[in-house]
Amino acid sequence: MASPTTHFSLLTLSLLFVSCISETHHTPKPRPLILPVAKDSNTHLFYTSLGLGTPRHDMDLVIDLGGPFVWYDCDNSYNSSTYHPVHCESRKCPGDAACTGCTSGPFKPGCSNDTCGAFLINPYADAIFSGDFGEDVLFLSHTSLSGLISGCTPSEGSSLLNNLPKSGKGILGLARTKLALPTQVSLSHKLPRKFSICLPSSNKKGLGSLFIGGAPQNASKITLFTTPLVVNPFSTAPIFSEGDPSYEYFIVVKSVKVDGGVINIKPSLFSIDNKGQGGTKISTMNPFTAVHSSIFKPLVREFSKKAVDRKMRKVAPVAPFGACFDFSTIGRTITGLDAPTIELELEGGVKWTIYGGNSLVLVNKKVACLAFVDGGKDAKTSVVIGGHLLEDNLVEFDLVSSKLSFSSSLLLHNARCSHFRA
Ligand SMILES: *[C@@H]1O[C@H](CO)[C@@H](O)[C@H](O)[C@H]1NC(C)=O
Ligand SMILES: *[C@@H]1O[C@H](CO)[C@@H](O)[C@H](O)[C@H]1NC(C)=O
Ligand SMILES: *[C@@H]1O[C@H](CO)[C@@H](O)[C@H](O)[C@H]1NC(C)=O
Repeated sequence: MASPTTHFSLLTLSLLFVSCISETHHTPKPRPLILPVAKDSNTHLFYTSLGLGTPRHDMDLVIDLGGPFVWYDCDNSYNSSTYHPVHCESRKCPGDAACTGCTSGPFKPGCSNDTCGAFLINPYADAIFSGDFGEDVLFLSHTSLSGLISGCTPSEGSSLLNNLPKSGKGILGLARTKLALPTQVSLSHKLPRKFSICLPSSNKKGLGSLFIGGAPQNASKITLFTTPLVVNPFSTAPIFSEGDPSYEYFIVVKSVKVDGGVINIKPSLFSIDNKGQGGTKISTMNPFTAVHSSIFKPLVREFSKKAVDRKMRKVAPVAPFGACFDFSTIGRTITGLDAPTIELELEGGVKWTIYGGNSLVLVNKKVACLAFVDGGKDAKTSVVIGGHLLEDNLVEFDLVSSKLSFSSSLLLHNARCSHFRA
């Protein structure tokens, strides 16, 4: 059987050949690498599958837009003959990393001396874990990448994997860092430094995708709206060095409307203050969009009022949600449940329109709730756009131009994420 690497180079060659005989002088547009994305119905988190090491270990990793690198559980049963620890003195070792050593031996991933230390972050665990940075071969899509730098530590007896999907063995970080997967893959495969995500609303309707190096081939029919990605000059990570900027993806929301009516929100909540507080970020580790209490209260009030205008019947709220409705009183449209439309007005004069499929969540057979949660009055970031709001939306992160492009609901185009898997 031909190796995946051979397939890839044959494909590249045939593309070059086609472009020669047709005498086009521009090189073919590089194809993004595609990873499948599934939704875990228990945790509402999203994960992908990839292969790592020799022999190849296939594992599910949770997708974290705010994760600085890839990490996995290298428990007792895990070993790999192609694994090389990143040494403390190596220039591949991030400047502020500690140096770790393993006296217990024998050597394996997670147990080596003079090794560049990695802090492994699972936002749902009660601790930050000290692990190792190492290099190994990564298999994804139809290709492989040698020398992927990732972190690992054995999970035995710790909360390392707590509250992740059952099959989850670690976290796939997509943040604005050198060690995040898209940046490492784009560099090694000479792909543009951008990636797109399309999160599925349910696995029954087909898987979604993560595209590294661009957007899906046939997404050109879909209009994307673009807004700048901004850098919060203050780290939002649980562990960082003084002066580090945040590596999470922030955008600027200027106002929020419900069915055309502007919600009264203090404008300062939308900007990032001189302590790094406020503003809007996107996080796939938050299942539901969490907003500062001073946004949550008027949003729930306004949404409920407009919902009642649509003859949606209010029922007792189901925690953690603030407004819930009798499912049988909600109509249907092409974009899902017929709910009041929420619009986020963004920097650059574009609007992210949120329809029922993204603004409501079914909590049982009879009740649908506004899929926003109260982030509290001390919320560090005022708006944290969560996974549910991103479902069946195509969202592209361009790390070169620092821009976010989004489709709003694909259902408007009679499409969903599973239609872009080619
Ligand atoms: C792991 O694999 C390496 C390289 O194949 C080998 O030297 C080492 O002894 C193995 N470690 C364990 C704990 O089996
Ligand atoms: C690491 O170094 C210590 C002290 O030199 C040694 O006892 C131990 O066996 C080494 N461990 C590994 C995994 O090489
Ligand atoms: C994209 O292409 C795939 C495979 O050719 C097709 O199944 C899908 O419907 C297309 N999606 C759209 C939105 O045109």
